[in-house]
Amino acid sequence: MIRSIILTSSCFAACVQLVFANRGLFLEQIDNTTWTFGNDLWNVTQEAVYASKLYFRGSELVGSATGHYMGYDGENNLVWTSAAITSRGEDYIDVGFSCEEGELHWVIFDCMSGAYQYFANRALPDLSILRTLWRLDPKLFLRGRTYQRDEPLPDFALYQNATKVQDETWQLANGSFITKYDFSDYVRERDFYGIYGPRFGSWYIHPGTDYYNSDHLSQTLTCATQRSPGHLPFPRGEKVAQLAGKVWGPWLWLLNDGTVEDASRQASEELAKWPYPWLKDPAYQSRGGVTGNLRLSDGRPASGAAVFMGDIDTTRRPSVQGKRYYYTTHAGHDGRFSLEHVRSGTYGLYAWSDGDTLGDVYTNFSKSGIDIAAGTITELCDLTWTVPDKVKRLFTIGDFDKKAIGFRNGGSPYQHGISNQSPANLKFTVGKSTTSEWHYAQALVGTWAIEFDLGQQTLMLGGDGDDSATLSLSFAGYSQSTAMNVTINDQLLGDPSLYRSGKTSGEWRFVQYSIPRAALKEGLNTLGFTVTRYTQWRGFMWDSIILEWT
Ligand SMILES: *[C@@H]1O[C@H](CO)[C@@H](O)[C@H](O)[C@H]1NC(C)=O
Ligand SMILES: *[C@@H]1O[C@H](CO)[C@@H](O)[C@H](O)[C@H]1NC(C)=O
Ligand SMILES: *[C@@H]1O[C@H](CO)[C@@H](O)[C@H](O)[C@H]1NC(C)=O
Ligand SMILES: *[C@@H]1O[C@H](CO)[C@@H](O)[C@H](O)[C@H]1NC(C)=O
Ligand SMILES: *[C@@H]1O[C@H](CO)[C@@H](O)[C@H](O)[C@H]1NC(C)=O
Ligand SMILES: *[C@@H]1O[C@H](CO)[C@@H](O)[C@H](O)[C@H]1NC(C)=O
Repeated sequence: MIRSIILTSSCFAACVQLVFANRGLFLEQIDNTTWTFGNDLWNVTQEAVYASKLYFRGSELVGSATGHYMGYDGENNLVWTSAAITSRGEDYIDVGFSCEEGELHWVIFDCMSGAYQYFANRALPDLSILRTLWRLDPKLFLRGRTYQRDEPLPDFALYQNATKVQDETWQLANGSFITKYDFSDYVRERDFYGIYGPRFGSWYIHPGTDYYNSDHLSQTLTCATQRSPGHLPFPRGEKVAQLAGKVWGPWLWLLNDGTVEDASRQASEELAKWPYPWLKDPAYQSRGGVTGNLRLSDGRPASGAAVFMGDIDTTRRPSVQGKRYYYTTHAGHDGRFSLEHVRSGTYGLYAWSDGDTLGDVYTNFSKSGIDIAAGTITELCDLTWTVPDKVKRLFTIGDFDKKAIGFRNGGSPYQHGISNQSPANLKFTVGKSTTSEWHYAQALVGTWAIEFDLGQQTLMLGGDGDDSATLSLSFAGYSQSTAMNVTINDQLLGDPSLYRSGKTSGEWRFVQYSIPRAALKEGLNTLGFTVTRYTQWRGFMWDSIILEWT
C-alpha cells in the first residue's frame, strides 16, 4: 500500500502521511466549469478562470485570496472551457486546460508537491504580457524571495490607508514608499523565486528561459502586493504577434514546507534536467548548440560581451523581440561564447558591450542567418565586430553597458524614490571628477555640466575646418514626460542624428549629436544637460557619455 519505491527523500514524510487517500494522479470534472486535479500530496479546484482552492498537507492555501489564474496584458482573461489528460507516463499525467487562445498544462508526477506548467499558443492576440500566478493566503505566506531579496512582504493592511502615487506604488503616512516593483528582477538571472511562511512555500523555478522575450535586460515582477508569486514570462512595452504553437515553459511550480534551502536544492536539480525528456513535443526536443569567437576590429577580444541569439531580422532590436525563442549569454575573456539547448532553426546573432574592458564600445555586432540543427554544434569562427578608432576619443564617462552601474546610486537594489537623492545641478570636470560623482538619474529641473579641457587640440587636429566631434549619449532608461536640452558652451545642440526610442521607461536609448568644430574652443569647454520639464520620479537614467572627434 505504501508506494515507497518511488518516494524521494524530500517528500517521503508527506507521502506516508497521506497515503491512505491513495488516490494517485487524478483529474475529475465536477460540473461543466469545475474540475479537481492533483495527486496524493496536493490538489487544486479549478473553475472557469480561477483555481480557487489549493489543498496541501491538510490545509487550504488560497484562503481569503483569489487563487491561480492566467492572462495576457494584465487581465485574468483566459477562460477554461474543457480539461483532459492529454498524455501520461508511468509516474505522471499531463492535464491540459483548454481556452480559445491555447492550452495550459499541469504535469503532475506521483510524488511531487507542485506541478510543471507550460502554455501552448493556439490563437493569442498580439500581446505585451502573458502571465500566470497564484494569489495565496496572506496569513500563511509572509515573505517574498527573489535572487536579489528575501524579506517580509509589506503587510496588506499598510496599503489601505496609503496614498497611491503611481502605478502599484504607495506612499505611507511617514513618507516611505512601498511598491510591488521592488520585487522585480532580471528574468534571465533568476534561480528561483516565491513566497513562503513558517509552514508553506510556493515557488517558481525556470530552468530554461528561451520562451522569455527580449534580452539580458528583461525585468519583471515576481512577488506582489497580494502575496502572489507572479510568473510573467513576457513583459514589454510593445505588443507583438506570437508564433502559433509557441510553448512557454515548462517551469516548475513547487510547494514545500517553507524552507528556502529545499527550493534552492530543487532549483539545481531542475537545471540539470532541462530540457525535460517527458515533454513529447518534437519541436521542443529538437535542439543543437552554437559556439563562436568574437573579436573587435581593433584586435581586442570581445571580453564579457553580451551575446544574444534571436530573430533572423537583426534590424529589430533585441529588447523588443518576442515572437519566438531567445538565448542569451556572455562571451569569456577571450571573446569565446557558446549556447546550448537551442531549438533548431535559423537565428540572428547580436553582441554588445556589457562594460568592463568593452566599456568604451557603443557599436554592436550582428549577423543574420545562423542555422542550428538538432544534435549538432554550429561553429562560428573569427567573427569581427567593427568599432571606431579609439585615438579620436576625447573622454568617456561611465561604462557603456546599458546600465547605470558605476554612477552614484546606480545598480542599487530596486527601491522606489531613490532618484530624489540626485541633485538638480551638478558639475563634473573631466580628468578631476570620478565616475561616482555623476549620479545615475537626472530628474530635477537644473543643469548638469561637464567641463573638459581641449588644450590646443582644436588647432592640432585636421585643419580643413570641416571637422566635428560626435557626442554619444547612452541612457539606461528614460521617461517621456521629462525633457532635456543639450548644449555645448551654452549653444543648444540640434536634433540628435541617431535616436532609438521605446515606449516604456527602463528601456535603453542611444542618441548622437554632431558638434561642429566652430562650437568648440581651445582650453575649457562645457557640455550642459539641462532638464527643462519635470514629473516626479521620471527622468533620465544615465549609462554613458562619450565625446570623440568624428
Ligand atoms: C454549464 O451548465 C449550466 C447548467 O448547469 C448551463 O447553464 C451552462 O450553459 C453550461 N455551460 C456550458 C459552457 O456548457
Ligand atoms: C484534496 O486534498 C484534501 C486534503 O489535503 C482532501 O481532504 C481532499 O479529499 C482532496 N480532494 C480530492 C478531490 O482528492
Ligand atoms: C487606517 O485608518 C483607519 C481610520 O483612520 C484606522 O482605524 C486604521 O487603524 C488605519 N490602518 C492602518 C494600517 O494604519
Ligand atoms: C514607515 O512605516 C513603515 C510601516 O510601518 C515602516 O516599515 C518604515 O520603516 C517606516 N519608515 C520610516 C522612515 O520611518
Ligand atoms: C546596432 O548598431 C546599428 C548600427 O549603428 C544600429 O542601427 C542598431 O540599432 C544597433 N542595435 C542595437 C540593439 O544596439
Ligand atoms: C531648451 O531649448 C528650447 C529650444 O528647443 C528653448 O526654447 C528653451 O528655452 C530651452 N530651455 C532652457 C532651460 O534652456
